Amino acid sequence: MTKLAIIYYSSYGTGHAMATRLAATAEAQGAEVRLRHVRETAPDEAVQSQEPWAAHVAEMKDKPVAQPDDLDWADAVIMGSGTRYGHITSQLQSFIDTLGPLWGQGKLADKVYAAFTSSQTKHGGQETTLEAMNTTFAHFGGIIVPPGYTDQVKFNDGNPYGVGKVTGESPELNDTDNAALDHLVTRVLTIAGKLNA
Ligand SMILES: Cc1cc2nc3c(=O)[nH]c(=O)nc-3n(C[C@H](O)[C@H](O)[C@H](O)COP(=O)(O)O)c2cc1C
Repeated sequence: MTKLAIIYYSSYGTGHAMATRLAATAEAQGAEVRLRHVRETAPDEAVQSQEPWAAHVAEMKDKPVAQPDDLDWADAVIMGSGTRYGHITSQLQSFIDTLGPLWGQGKLADKVYAAFTSSQTKHGGQETTLEAMNTTFAHFGGIIVPPGYTDQVKFNDGNPYGVGKVTGESPELNDTDNAALDHLVTRVLTIAGKLNA
């Protein structure tokens, strides 16, 4: 059974919906999944100043928070973050910055990694955000598994670097988004399964 950690940060819930879809599909395929959101680090006054942000933080209050051990445990890791000016969120970066001890012991290497993101606009930085996560995976010595155009569904969402949701086009996940997420997690589990065979 492949152990999959889904590690993500979400302010408004898009990333959470994407991560939840990935987890459901992985579990349906027999994987053992840890679905873990990254701890909020923004000041409470910033969170409370935006109703959707405050609502999502309240929704996640009792859900398990990502720990470095979740990566140590995993055979495969899918990481997600919304775009912030073309980069990953500071919240996800803060979590990544706690991984130094595991990195130093070589415990982040030789796992399968893939990434997902969301942005308000189509050309608002999805590729740079996904590539930022892929850069980190390279430093881990990870085996980066981009979706490429390895299935017809990738010609619909059109993102070979990972999965990206454009929230300005439709806030909720649509069939194209779900197909791309299902494709990514299936590919990650298939390749992790071959590596662990
Ligand atoms: C500070 C900040 C910066 C952002 N920068 C961008 C950006 O550069 N391009 C873009 O298209 N959307 C940008 N967005 C929009 C978010 O990426 C978008 O709302 C994302 O889907 C949020 O994901 P979430 O619902 O998981 O939090 C930004 C949002 C915030 C709050």
